[in-house]
Amino acid sequence: MRIAVLHGPNLRMLGQREPSVYGHDTLEEIEDRIRMLGQELGVEVESFQSNTEGSLLDFVETASQRVAGFVINAGALTHTSIALRDCLVGVGLPFVEVHLSNTSAREDFRRGSFLASVAGGVVYGFGPDSYLLGLRGLVALVEKNSVRT
Ligand code: DQA
Repeated sequence: MRIAVLHGPNLRMLGQREPSVYGHDTLEEIEDRIRMLGQELGVEVESFQSNTEGSLLDFVETASQRVAGFVINAGALTHTSIALRDCLVGVGLPFVEVHLSNTSAREDFRRGSFLASVAGGVVYGFGPDSYLLGLRGLVALVEKNSVRT
């Protein structure tokens, strides 16, 4: 099984960006942990970060030909992007929405998500562990969906 992990705008700055909210781990360190968990679970993980909405859409569309699903931290696009939602629905693969911070405990504009209602599940508030929990959830979801009765 192959899984793609997506990081949206500004997540490349993790480590230096608002450490009181997002912690001190860099994106590279978080990705190392995701890859290690992937190995433990027997899944191949590829990742992609972009600050540009269109590049994320292009990646989802292309990657959908080779992956079983997505773990996605869309950053601020979570709260604004109908295009990303439509793209994820359009490719028809399961995905898990993740956030480092507890978005429900922050500003009002972070409470809404265009992705949550079409996601297989949502994990937020656990720092980098949100990605790991999201990956475990996605793998379980894909495995469950592929069991024929
Ligand atoms: C975030 C939460 C978003 O509201 C914010 O815009 C981000 C990061 C998180 O991981 O907590 O960029 O997705």
